[in-house]
Order: sequence, then structure tokens, then C-alpha cells
Amino acid sequence: MKTAIITGASSGLGQEIVRQIGDVFPEVESYWLIARRGDRLEQIAATLSGKTVACLTLDLCDAMSFVAFQEKLRCEQPEVTLLVNNAGCGYLGAIGEVDTASQTKMVDLNLRALTAITNMTVPYMGPGSHILNVSSIASFCPTPGMTAYSASKAYVTAYTVGAAQELRRKGVSVTAVCPGPMNTEFLRVGNIAGNSRMFEMLPYCDQVRVAGGALRAARAGRTIYTPRLVYKTYRLIAKAMPQTLLAKLTRV
Ligand SMILES: NC(=O)c1ccc[n+]([C@@H]2O[C@H](COP(=O)([O-])OP(=O)(O)OC[C@H]3O[C@@H](n4cnc5c(N)ncnc54)[C@H](OP(=O)(O)O)[C@@H]3O)[C@@H](O)[C@H]2O)c1
Repeated sequence: MKTAIITGASSGLGQEIVRQIGDVFPEVESYWLIARRGDRLEQIAATLSGKTVACLTLDLCDAMSFVAFQEKLRCEQPEVTLLVNNAGCGYLGAIGEVDTASQTKMVDLNLRALTAITNMTVPYMGPGSHILNVSSIASFCPTPGMTAYSASKAYVTAYTVGAAQELRRKGVSVTAVCPGPMNTEFLRVGNIAGNSRMFEMLPYCDQVRVAGGALRAARAGRTIYTPRLVYKTYRLIAKAMPQTLLAKLTRV
């Protein structure tokens, strides 16, 4: 049974990606939805009529969740046609002034979980399958005030580019989507809402459009997909300018 696995499926962009998978990947028959809030996953599962859905209530910051996921893969032996590494968090705050747990959580979820889930899932992916990693415009240049977050997303984008080359021989495509700010729970969870002039100034991306564009980019086998012209332009500027200089302007 052709399976799609989506982390962070309980809200925001992940929930929207789940809703739109059928439009872009009509061959998907089975969904594995992963997040901590099982009740939210069950509600989303109920909307996927005619599909087989497994709700995996896992805390991806806890290494024991990798053991549970590995065991589920071993028992079910799924044919994974799409893996979406979407779960992520970003906390605003100055280094040395915020609690350490929020800093390490970004590393655990944004990097470690994505790396672990990908490594465990790839053996179940064949030619013509796709990985979609959710990165950010923050990956283009370090952003003081959210330094750990931007560094974690730089890893996601770099990992995507390397993995795309590595997995090409296997016929698996790897795509990173790099959205600008979106009005999701991310802003509240990360203490960003009301506390960042930069986030108030920047043009927002609509998660409905980002989800559709990202899925189509994955299907087309593109490596990097940046929604909105303004952020495509920012990516080019960030490539051309020294990062030490640009980072003086990117404080959030
Ligand atoms: N919103 C933005 O401005 C923005 C901009 C660029 C990129 N992004 C990226 O977009 C992705 C989706 O974020 P979003 O904006 O849709 O925010 P969101 O609504 O807060 O979604 C985050 C998702 O990750 C899950 N999650 C959080 N901690 C988890 C954990 N420990 N274990 C398992 N799942 C966990 C959440 O589910 P539970 O709470 O149920 O676990 C939720 O489903 C993230 O990778 C984020 O970095 C966001």
C-alpha cells in the first residue's frame, strides 16, 4: 500500500500538507500522521475518507520515539512514496538569556528528528518516491535573535541538497521548502507573536499556498522551493552577500 508519512501533522503547514496530498499524490492510499497531540491527529484522520490512516502520537524530541517508529516500520513494511519532515519549532530569544531547553529543543526536533526519521524511512522508499523537508528562509542567512533556529534550518537545507544527490541513484527525490513567516501556532509557541518587529514587517506566506506549491515541487523533483518572489530574491541576495555583513541586517 503506497504510504505517506508526515511529521508535525497536527497543525499549521503540516495539517495543510496532509489535506492536499491527495491532489498531488493521488496514488497515496495510506497515511502515517505523527505529532504529540493524538486528539488533533484523530480529527485530521477523520477527514481522510477512504484512506487507511495511522496516528502515531510521538514526541520526536524523545529518542525513544525513534525506537517506536523503527518498530512500526519493521512490523508494517510500508511502501513509502512520500515522507514529509515538517515538525519543527523556532524560539525567539537571546543566547544566554533564554532557557536552555528551548534552545536544545530546536536542535532535537529540527535536526536530530529529521535526520533520524529520514534514515529509518529511506530503506522503505523505492524509485519514484519523494522526501519533502520543511526548511525556512531563515536557512539562507543567520538571523540574530533566532540564531539556533536559523542554524537548524541551514542544516535542513544543506542536508536536503546533499541527500538529493545521494539518493538520486535510488530514484528518490529530496526537496526543501523554504517559506517566509506563516500565521500558524509556530508564532505563539516560539514567543514570536508581539515580540518581533521583523516578523511584523515581513510579508507573510499563506500556508495553504505553501503546502500546494511544496507538494508540487516535491512531485517535480525540485531540490529547493522558495515561495513568493520577495523571498526568491532574498535567497539570491543572501548567496551574493557575505553572511557576516548580511547578518547585521537580519536580526529578528
Ligand atoms: N510559521 C512560520 O512562520 C514558519 C516559517 C518558516 C518555516 N516554518 C516551519 O514550518 C514547519 C511547520 O510549522 P508551522 O508553522 O506549521 O507551526 P505549528 O503549527 O506550530 O506546527 C508544528 C508541528 O510540529 C509538531 N511538533 C512540535 N513539537 C513536536 C515534537 N516534540 N514531537 C512531534 N511533533 C512536534 C506540532 O505538533 P504537536 O504540538 O501536536 O506535537 C505541529 O504539528 C516547521 O518546521 C517550521 O520550522 C514555519
